[in-house]
Amino acid sequence: MIKINAERLEARLKALAEIGKAEQGGGWIRPAFTPQYTQARDLVASWMEAAGMKVRVDAIGNLIGRLEGDDPSAPVVAMGSHIDTVNNGGMFDGAAGTMSGLEVAASISEAGIPHKNPIEVIAFVEEEGARFGEGELGSKTMSGGLDKAALLAKKGYDGVPIGDTLRAYGFDPDRLEEAVAPKGYYKSYFELHIEQSHVLDSTGDVLGVVEGIASLIWLRGHVKGKTSHAGATPMNFRKDSFIPVAMIAQEAEKIAKAVSDNTVATMGKVQVTPNIPNAVPGYVEFMFDVRGLHMPDVEKCASLISERFYEICREREIEGEIEQTLYLLGAEVPDKMKDLVEDAVKQVGVPYRRMMSGAGHDAQMMARITDIGMIFVPSIDGISHAPQENTKFEDIAAGAQALCNAVLSQCG
Ligand code: HGY
Ligand code: MN
Ligand code: MN
Repeated sequence: MIKINAERLEARLKALAEIGKAEQGGGWIRPAFTPQYTQARDLVASWMEAAGMKVRVDAIGNLIGRLEGDDPSAPVVAMGSHIDTVNNGGMFDGAAGTMSGLEVAASISEAGIPHKNPIEVIAFVEEEGARFGEGELGSKTMSGGLDKAALLAKKGYDGVPIGDTLRAYGFDPDRLEEAVAPKGYYKSYFELHIEQSHVLDSTGDVLGVVEGIASLIWLRGHVKGKTSHAGATPMNFRKDSFIPVAMIAQEAEKIAKAVSDNTVATMGKVQVTPNIPNAVPGYVEFMFDVRGLHMPDVEKCASLISERFYEICREREIEGEIEQTLYLLGAEVPDKMKDLVEDAVKQVGVPYRRMMSGAGHDAQMMARITDIGMIFVPSIDGISHAPQENTKFEDIAAGAQALCNAVLSQCG
């Protein structure tokens, strides 16, 4: 067993966190395909080169560092995550896993440990969907799941057609398929990630052996009413577009609870127009994030929400629409990989538990093309996707050590 360099890992996480700090609202704003994201990616690329890795950016924007193996034709053992963030997100979501993978590769390289299989570290692009609304875009493309026509028909959150943004950042929309990994290219993919909930933090366990990743559907809807004066318009003369949205938000909570004990529904994004105190809202756009351990439950929850939303609009005689905009099938970690990761975690000698992931990860996309393994580290107070997101560096180091043990057990 070789020891990873915990000091270097902490220093690099802090250095990466110097890029993309939000000017307002705290935390980080580092969406993919932005100048700050490119700056962060180039920094990580320089560290990959310093570790003796060959570095490339693939046709969709994934950053990949490769430590050559004794048998360059052997299937690759990969580690990865992402370095893009949600808006006003935290410094550990994605970064902890990407930098831990880099630290493992650097430690293996420095120790001169022979390894038959090549080792790759991947920073997947647009994992958060914060730029295009296309969560896990980089890993979805690499694993052959991209619907290119659907992607290029859309606009990013800035209203710019996605193809134009890709070209502006040097990517050719006609060549996105080149990012698809050849069949059998990967032997396995490991991802370390912060838990983003409170289980490890509240039980005192330091590491999580992830057994599976939840499925996800995003819904986007709008209500078109009539903007009018908040003072002069009598209550029965209004077409208030916010009321139906408030109603479906409340009903969605009941629907999710009724579908199953692990189905969740969140209306986390609402945009009111004109969004001023003295005007009745004439237009409201909203999004639902619906998840669960079993996709059929998620689908049932999403369709019940949609049906009820249309009912509410009919009852209130107001125009409304809702559509599915993202569909990410969850993944089960294969039993042999759960056992492998558990053995690797045991060697670190810290308390751990097996657990599920309610959050989505690139690993669920990589599960389509290779065996996956995941390691969780605690999120203090269970906070994530917020400036207060925090994890002890010593816990990340423990996770990185387990990651190192797991990778070495696969590429001997
Ligand atoms: O939303 C998620 O589950 C992940 O953080 N992208
Ligand atoms: Mn993440
Ligand atoms: Mn996230």
